[in-house]
Amino acid sequence: MDEVYEAREDSHLLEKYVMEFAHGICLDMGTGSGIQAMAASKKADFVIATDVNQKALEHCNSVMTSNKIFCLKSDLFSFFEKKFVVIRDKKFKGFADRKDEGNKFDVIIFNPPYLPTDERDPDVALDGGKHGYEIIERFLRQAGEYLADKGVILLIFSSIAGKEKIDSIIVENGFRFEALGKRHISFEDMHCYKISK
Ligand SMILES: C[S@@+](CC[C@H](N)C(=O)[O-])C[C@H]1O[C@@H](n2cnc3c(N)ncnc32)[C@H](O)[C@@H]1O
Repeated sequence: MDEVYEAREDSHLLEKYVMEFAHGICLDMGTGSGIQAMAASKKADFVIATDVNQKALEHCNSVMTSNKIFCLKSDLFSFFEKKFVVIRDKKFKGFADRKDEGNKFDVIIFNPPYLPTDERDPDVALDGGKHGYEIIERFLRQAGEYLADKGVILLIFSSIAGKEKIDSIIVENGFRFEALGKRHISFEDMHCYKISK
């Protein structure tokens, strides 16, 4: 089974901006060790932490002691295709059907897998698709529907996934972006963006 992604330099770079921008209702997509959800919970009203890896969810449920964090399994936004989170008076009230009134996310955080698929050593925490950017493309195609009008996406990615390609995917999906920070780590540059509608 895939292991839980241990927080690394990319995680810590993103965490810095999560501490700065988290507010309202946050979604930490691909939570892994839960580092971003825990950082967000210090500023946000509520945080939904998701992962496709069952092991990551078991880990999160055991370490997340904050009553401001709820962990659930979802392949990108699949869970939210049918359900919306309900927050009233800054308190989590559960989930409602999409047809009923629910809340969109004020902040969506994602530190995605970004390496090209390695058939010999598959790892869900690293596998970004054939070229490495496909999961980001799938994410950005869906994200607008779940993001509040004034909401922001905090996305970190590597130059390995192709900065120009990702810049163009962001714009093609009707978003604009601001580069928050960049860090050179051995053979790659990590870019952290704030993306909005
Ligand atoms: C690079 S790790 C980041 C972990 C953590 N957020 C951090 O910043 O250290 C990517 C995470 O995304 C999860 N993931 C991969 N594909 C996913 C998908 N389709 N939907 C949701 N989570 C996914 C992986 O299981 C992994 O926990």
